Amino acid sequence: MELPRLIAHRGLSHHAPENTLAAIRATHEAGLNWLELDVQCLGDGTPVLWHDAHVVRCSDGQGLLRDYSLAQAKRLDVGRWFDERFAGERMATLEEALALISELGLGLNLELKLSAGHDDNLLAETVVPQAVAMLPRERLLISSFSVATLSRVRELDGNCALGILYEDGPTRGWVTDAEQVEAFSIHSNWQSLDPARAEEIRDRGRRLICYTVNDPRRFHRWWSHGVDTVITDRPELFDGDDFAPSAEPADPA
Ligand code: G3P
Ligand code: MG
Repeated sequence: MELPRLIAHRGLSHHAPENTLAAIRATHEAGLNWLELDVQCLGDGTPVLWHDAHVVRCSDGQGLLRDYSLAQAKRLDVGRWFDERFAGERMATLEEALALISELGLGLNLELKLSAGHDDNLLAETVVPQAVAMLPRERLLISSFSVATLSRVRELDGNCALGILYEDGPTRGWVTDAEQVEAFSIHSNWQSLDPARAEEIRDRGRRLICYTVNDPRRFHRWWSHGVDTVITDRPELFDGDDFAPSAEPADPA
């Protein structure tokens, strides 16, 4: 699998409402060819693009995602909170998102979003067959903070590329985790990464992906420690072949 240096976080989420079809289109229009999206299930079992357990932050609704059916979720406005230009945007099902990603020829890092009260294995069992059926293997990377959930994914599909997410940097047991799920990549919060651990990941032949990098200037030294790819809200701040910072001031991390 050929990964680019930059993956758009939640779609191009600084320029369009996160985890929507509009954010997928914006990724393509910005010239990026890979994006990260979060998926979880509604109460009726439909997988949708969504980050939070609740719907308050990114819609005009109230309450928990798991209490919504698809019909109810489709009545929410998921664009206006971001900008009036996106008023009327509707929550995207995974199927709608995969169809658009396939049509645009994009690569997808799909994060199985764990949320209290949700059945993580059921999420994997619902999402994985759909994703592998709709995208070519070289354009699909499935990731999760849960090694147990990724183990279930591996049982469901022996070949798809898997990435293990670590909140506080890869732990000492990352090698065991990676062998258990035959991980393609290790995904680390860049602010918690240790240089020796980064180089160990590189030397052991796993890809190293850092999230969420919005300050190319501060990040720059990490490329030399073996980082392959960053997930970013602000791809436009990265400039040049070596991703030296561009002239535009970076957001505070
Ligand atoms: O997959 C990287 C990143 O998306 C993980 O954090 O909270 O933005 O889903 P979060
Ligand atoms: Mg995510």
